[in-house]
Formats: sequence, structure tokens, C-alpha cells
Amino acid sequence: MKKRRRIYEGKAKILYEGPEPGTLIQFFKDDATAFNKKKHEIVDGKGVLNNRISEHIFKQMTRIGIPNHFIKRINMREQLIKEVEIIPIEVIVRNIAAGTLSERLGIPEGEVLPRSIIEFCYKKDELGDPLVAEEHITAFGWASPQEIDDIMALAIRVNDFLSGLFAGIGIQLVDFKIEMGRLWENDVMRIVVADEISPDSCRLWDLDTQEKMDKDRFRKGLGGLVEAYQEVANRLGIMQKNEPQRGTGPVLVSSNDDTKE
Ligand code: C5P
Repeated sequence: MKKRRRIYEGKAKILYEGPEPGTLIQFFKDDATAFNKKKHEIVDGKGVLNNRISEHIFKQMTRIGIPNHFIKRINMREQLIKEVEIIPIEVIVRNIAAGTLSERLGIPEGEVLPRSIIEFCYKKDELGDPLVAEEHITAFGWASPQEIDDIMALAIRVNDFLSGLFAGIGIQLVDFKIEMGRLWENDVMRIVVADEISPDSCRLWDLDTQEKMDKDRFRKGLGGLVEAYQEVANRLGIMQKNEPQRGTGPVLVSSNDDTKE
């Protein structure tokens, strides 16, 4: 088999050189990490589910004109994407208090926020991706003031879209993280959504039971991570039962069918 050039390996994904200039292949690993890699496990099937869920979300975003890096899914674990210049900022949008916001400000988990809040973290594993202000972003040249305006407008658009998408399948979008990149088309530069959108990067609660359907199951040691991700996929109408979920191994047979709307 022809060996591919590996461009970058992150905690949950690998980027390979793509077949055409300006493209990359994004590979979804089964690794689950939390607390800046202090907790690490291999969760069989997670990469396959995230590939499919992220594909579904990015395709829907393309359909409604939210600019992004996605081209197409190639196989169970890989997708073809446009190469972008990643802005070294994690953009977090919160609708309900949870996670580090609750810890930092003492706001009980589950409290509805007065309005959606956007936060920025500097993408730097060695520092644990610290929270930063717009001042840091512009002073250190990570993004310009105009780009920050574009990033915030895009983040709100993604939040509105995702909130509606998940509410329609009985899921509350508590918060999420996205990454963005610069994409040049001829001489014009656009900020586009990059990376992935999946239960690894969103907090998703069942609207009726408040059950966690995201990576907090792993962070908090609740178990049932793959089952929760599978449930998200089922409700989105993807990864139908009997479709092989894992790269190898047994075929998944869903035990109940009342999850589909
Ligand atoms: O941990 P925290 O409350 O700051 O996370 C906010 C949101 O951003 C959560 O949905 C979490 O899954 C996501 N996140 C992420 N990657 C990080 C940090 C946070 O996907 N490195």
C-alpha cells in the first residue's frame, strides 16, 4: 500500500496529505482523552461514529451556506477536507452552564445562561489550552479584529443551526467547541469552520431525561460512551442498525427502535 504523508497527529484525529493540492484526509481515531491527556482510553467504535456524525453536520451546514472545510466522507474513518490555515483558537459557545464555566464562576451546572456566551481558548496543549481574551488574540497576532468579528458571527450562526438541529431530535445543545481556519479562494480569504463537530466536542443532554450523550460520559467515568454516541447518530438518522459500526468485529444490533422520531 502506498504510504501517505502524515501532516499532523492530534489527540483524536490524524491529518494526512490529500490526493490533490489544497486537500487533506482527516482520520478519526478511537482515542478518548480528557483533562489534557491525563485520562486516555481507546473506545472501540468512537472514531467511526464521530466521522459519520461530523459528516452529517458539516453537510447540513454546507446546504444552508455555513462555510466549512468538508468535501466528502471517504470511508468509515476518513473524510476529505480542504486544507485551511488553522487559527490557533478554540471557540467555545455556551447556552447552559456546565464544565469549566461552572467551575470557574460557581454557576450550577444546568443553569440557563442569560444569553449565549462565546469564549476563546489558545490552542496550546503544553499550557492546557488556556482561556484568553480578544486582547490576547489581537496583541499576539493570532487573528485580526476583523477576523474576530467574523469568527464570532460564524460561531453564533453555528450555534443557532446546531441548537435547532439537536432540539429537533430531543437533544439540548449545552455548549460546544469549534475550530476555524482561513481558506483562500483565488485572492479572497474566508474564515471557515474546520476540525469536527461531534459528541466529543459538544455537550448534548437528552431534553426529557437530561441524560448526558457526549464525552462527559468519559470525563466523569459514567460509561456507555459508544452507546450514547450511537443514540445521537440514530436520532440524526445515520448509522442505521445492522450497519457495521466498528472497523472490524461484530455487527451492531440496536436493541430498541423507539429512538427514531
Ligand atoms: O471543558 P469546557 O466546559 O470548557 O468545555 C466546553 C465545550 O467545549 C464542551 O462541549 C467540550 O466538549 C468542548 N471542548 C472541546 N475541546 C477542548 C475543550 C473543550 O471539544 N479542548
